[in-house]
Amino acid sequence: MPCSPEFRLDHAGLMAWLREEDPRELERLWAEADRVRREHVGDAVHLRGLIEVSSHCVRSCLYCGLRAQEEDLDRYRLEADEILACARQAAVLGYSTVVLQGGEDPGLTRAFIAEVVQSIKRQTHLAVTLSLGERDDEDLLAWREAGADRYLLRFETADRALYRRVHPSLPGRLSDRLGQLHRLRAMGYEIGSGLMIGLPGQTWDTLATDLLRFRELDLDMIGVGPFLPSPRTPLGGPGALAFLAPPAVQVPNDGPTTLKAVALSRLLCPDANIPGTTALATLDRAQGRELALLRGANVVMPNVTPPAFRARYEIYPGKACVGETAEACRDGLAERLRALGRSIARGPGGRLSTLRQERTLFASHR
Ligand code: 5AD
Repeated sequence: MPCSPEFRLDHAGLMAWLREEDPRELERLWAEADRVRREHVGDAVHLRGLIEVSSHCVRSCLYCGLRAQEEDLDRYRLEADEILACARQAAVLGYSTVVLQGGEDPGLTRAFIAEVVQSIKRQTHLAVTLSLGERDDEDLLAWREAGADRYLLRFETADRALYRRVHPSLPGRLSDRLGQLHRLRAMGYEIGSGLMIGLPGQTWDTLATDLLRFRELDLDMIGVGPFLPSPRTPLGGPGALAFLAPPAVQVPNDGPTTLKAVALSRLLCPDANIPGTTALATLDRAQGRELALLRGANVVMPNVTPPAFRARYEIYPGKACVGETAEACRDGLAERLRALGRSIARGPGGRLSTLRQERTLFASHR
């Protein structure tokens, strides 16, 4: 059964849920998100090994610690053999997908990424997700042809004015993430998107519209995490005050609001793959990820970047799991999943392939 009709998921209903503070009502929301999650995507949790391939970035997003203006950063770009070693390790650890994530870095050339994707596909059984920012269609097509399965690109906000304010375009190149998501879908990628909760300037109204946008886009993957101020950025210091919406309508960047957004994403998009994000684990180290898994999430993205580089990929400070080896991270996770009564999923764990299989099964039973 999809979400029960008593959970109003129109714009006004979503606004009301986002602002709900009555613990009994919230218990109903958590329980419904958990039920819909179990019914549609099951108890198994997909583990995706995250490889942070480059901290170089040409963009100036006002919230991001890797923005081009951060001149003192000790930036890095992994070599192909380093990325392949991480991927092989992810396979050994039992993960079925690797996510190659990086800044918008022209040094990650079309040919370089295509070769890396091909090699991962030749050497392992892994599904490959790319998360490399706004790129030309020619790049995206070449990578798809090389075997990439999925692409993550958060649209961050559907409020155009807010989007423009915090994502300066490159000269002569208008930033259009929604357009890119549509084109990625047409190229045959599974598409993922999402946003930060509590970005300065984000209002309840905008956030409700954004959640509805997840459904309109029919997203395969949805990532929502809290906005974590990164001190050197324009949105990280006292200057951020100028960006805030009036207190009555500014969304807070806290755990409860993020978890409501996770739960509502599950109700709106019952069979999407939804991670408990690193940002949420960073905000609430004790139980951020677990609470997300209990309230709609079904994916975790353990970091498999070599620890020496991990600390240098500082989108925001204090990132969870920076010091842990990949094995320790996997073992800790496996233990926590067991405690939650959840298993580790096998198989590539794509949404579209699962839906297709189900449709085929259904067709053959008619
Ligand atoms: N706090 C939380 N999340 C952030 N991201 C970037 N900067 C921050 C921050 N300061 C998120 C963005 C981006 C993803 C890779 O990380 O949503 O899409």
